Amino acid sequence: MTAALQDALADHALRLLEADLAELSRAPRDARLTASGPHLFLDARKQRLDGPALDALFALLGDARFETWRERLLTGAVVNETESRPALHTALRDSSRLTDGRTAASLRAARAATATFAEACMREDVLDGHPVRRLINIGIGGSDLGPRLVHDALKAYRRERVELRFVSNLETTLVCITSKSFTTQETRLNANAARAWLSRHLGEAGANARLAASTANPERARDFGVAPARVFAFAGGVGGRYSLWSAAGLCLEIAYGPEVFDQLLAGAAAMDGHFASAPVEHNLPVLKALIDVWNRAGLKRASRCVAVYSSRLERLPAYLQQLEMESLGKSVTRAGAPLPEGGCGALVWGGRGSDVQHSFFQWLHQGLDEAPVDFVAIASLVRSADPRAKALGANLAAQGAALLDGAAGAGEHAAHRAMPGGRASTTMLIDDLSPQALGALIALHEHKVFVEALLYGLNPFDQWGVELGKTLANAILAGDVSGFDPSTRDLLNRLDLADPNSGPSD
Ligand code: F6P
Repeated sequence: MTAALQDALADHALRLLEADLAELSRAPRDARLTASGPHLFLDARKQRLDGPALDALFALLGDARFETWRERLLTGAVVNETESRPALHTALRDSSRLTDGRTAASLRAARAATATFAEACMREDVLDGHPVRRLINIGIGGSDLGPRLVHDALKAYRRERVELRFVSNLETTLVCITSKSFTTQETRLNANAARAWLSRHLGEAGANARLAASTANPERARDFGVAPARVFAFAGGVGGRYSLWSAAGLCLEIAYGPEVFDQLLAGAAAMDGHFASAPVEHNLPVLKALIDVWNRAGLKRASRCVAVYSSRLERLPAYLQQLEMESLGKSVTRAGAPLPEGGCGALVWGGRGSDVQHSFFQWLHQGLDEAPVDFVAIASLVRSADPRAKALGANLAAQGAALLDGAAGAGEHAAHRAMPGGRASTTMLIDDLSPQALGALIALHEHKVFVEALLYGLNPFDQWGVELGKTLANAILAGDVSGFDPSTRDLLNRLDLADPNSGPSD
């Protein structure tokens, strides 16, 4: 984070931390605290912000050269310096902004290949003479969380004939191995187990005929035994946690059909267009980024809670955890200089409302620490006649109001019953749970992360922090445990992992 960011926010933070948020939220509010965009309305009027603080936040966009970097992102320039790569997730939705026509053409060709295969999977003989009736997607992290989120959210749009499982009647089972690197230990172990399971019943040829792979390393997939025609490549410039829109979404394209996948991409592309052209004062990803940077770097809130008031969005918090914490969980700037305290993304957590009102909302209402809450709901669901949906909407609204206004304790144990209030939240209403709206919601967060990274001055597209753990796990499985601390060595002994021959065969 630049010193400018820190200085600009410090004074406003001191001033606004003293303000009565309930009163502040009832005063005339700056128009920039609400924004509408494709499929989505955002209301930040319960945030501890006012015009002057917003002015300071918006001014930081200039310091961070937002327009220049946005252009670099959208046209496919290198924005991930430590891996010398562009970030191509936006181009997966619409490659027309890319400067390099060859990259645009390869992205379009990759999508045509998966769409053609997704349609072919509906033929009755595609699996060694059998149709696809079950899909198993084997992947982890960005090769799992995105497809799972979409599958949970868009169940109503799934092709009736295809059952999608993430990690059962073998002849009609297609196993999609989704792995950008095709080296991830968990995925390779699961893929080996799935192929061994298929081989036991169908022989090696029968097993290999039921494998497909999505990867940025097609050679490794072919070496694994996946038929070349069923290896679907995606560009190395597509980050794992940004890869849902690429061939990593193959299982969705098969289970839902290319048309629904197109609708998901179209919703994200609509948000891309909004991000690319809406004035910063009315730009959803920009506003959301400024709010989250304000809470993290200005008010020093270490975490943010995402409460989704729809079962079908239950996986959104987990998806955003990877998207945001793997992108913004950094300790140095793009140039390698140390970041100051509060100078990187917040811890993201959350769950499904109204369930979470019966668990951690106690902490949110009466705990000593404060965490701003993002309430996410589907407007059309709450407007439906279903009394349960009405109750869900009422709880959504009530919780934001209770965090804001609190309540004085009364009668016996008044102190225990008091609710401090003054606690901030943002509400995001998506029109409906259509593929388009879901795509727009996800893309909003991808671009929010990009803007936050600019303001912190860090690179959101690498993830060196996840490498050391993998290296040490492989050392343990290879029997190299000498360098570990006594506690870890004792743990390994107790788990029979101290023996060099204890690891699984890959
Ligand atoms: O270890 C982190 C990570 O590299 C994520 O960034 C990625 O989404 C996940 O592992 C899976 O990686 P792959 O898609 O290469 O199997």
